[in-house]
Amino acid sequence: MKSAPQTGVLTIRRPDDWHVHLRDGAVMEGVVGYTARQFARAIVMPNLSPPVTTTALAAQYRERILGAVPKGRGFTPLMTAYLTDSTDAEDLVRGHAEGVLTAAKLYPANATTNSAHGVTDIRKLEPIFERMAEIGMPLLVHGEVTEDHIDVFDREAEFIERILAPLVERRPGLKVVFEHITTSQAVEFVNSTNENVAATITPQHLHINRNAMLVGGIRPHAYCLPVAKREQHRLALRDAATSGSAKYFLGTDSAPHAREDKESACGCAGIFNAPFAIESYAAVFEEEGALDKFEAFASINGPRFYGLPVNEEKITLEKIQHEVCGEVDANGTAIVPFHAGETLGWRLAG
Ligand code: DOR
Ligand code: ZN
Repeated sequence: MKSAPQTGVLTIRRPDDWHVHLRDGAVMEGVVGYTARQFARAIVMPNLSPPVTTTALAAQYRERILGAVPKGRGFTPLMTAYLTDSTDAEDLVRGHAEGVLTAAKLYPANATTNSAHGVTDIRKLEPIFERMAEIGMPLLVHGEVTEDHIDVFDREAEFIERILAPLVERRPGLKVVFEHITTSQAVEFVNSTNENVAATITPQHLHINRNAMLVGGIRPHAYCLPVAKREQHRLALRDAATSGSAKYFLGTDSAPHAREDKESACGCAGIFNAPFAIESYAAVFEEEGALDKFEAFASINGPRFYGLPVNEEKITLEKIQHEVCGEVDANGTAIVPFHAGETLGWRLAG
């Protein structure tokens, strides 16, 4: 990293976001600029309604995103296919070969927003995993079991034991990204596996524990899935992100929902962190005394894992205190951003 933090400037290769929800239509047009302003590329989640399940749907969605990117921003959306019980392996392989599909996403059925079409039994996908391993196509995993009787705070740890560890054991050649990890068990698991298993970590899971959601009143804007856990887990995630291990990289899981859909008797899961994502991560690395590891996490480990070139362009963050606004207008939809009303100490220049 070519930075000298004491001068108040931090310069790194332009980062990528390896997990983002851009939505569709007017909201997508309203939010994509925030991601494109910071990141050169982003892995775009396919959980639209209906989901992006095929190469053709992904190609059309990519065109809609590109049509909404502000002029002059060289932003590349990297598309994913939403796996279902009836995914066609040959379509995935073709989509990957044609450069339309970068990865495929596994949502256990009903794990989160728009996941009703997700996979009911992972064993049914074995032929697909076999093909993906052959062609080096990464499997992106939402790692939570969904059974009613499993406590929501235990769902990630349970998923590792019952689903993910056996899968990795069966298919050591399959590239797996354990998305938005939230527990020390996930960190231990990722650290203990071969180099084909990596993980993304969101800004919110580095900043907040479950108290932020539940103490002093229910705070719907701190609610996402997997849900934030105890403090000991947040600390394990901070250690992992700032460790310098190539297995961890930036994935915001920015997930915009209209204010009224969050502030509701049944509020949606998802935190909209796109407006100040890179600044939010920078705060964590600074607090941990690990700014020298920031560029690897934000800009190098991800492309290396995906087998893509690192970005040559640079971005600069300036050490300037600024307050995050209370609400963003996403093309007619009011959305409350992560850190609303708080002060951040770094600001992206330009
Ligand atoms: O909190 C979340 N929101 N977690 C997810 O996995 C999905 C996302 C969304 O799409 O809103
Ligand atoms: Zn997500």
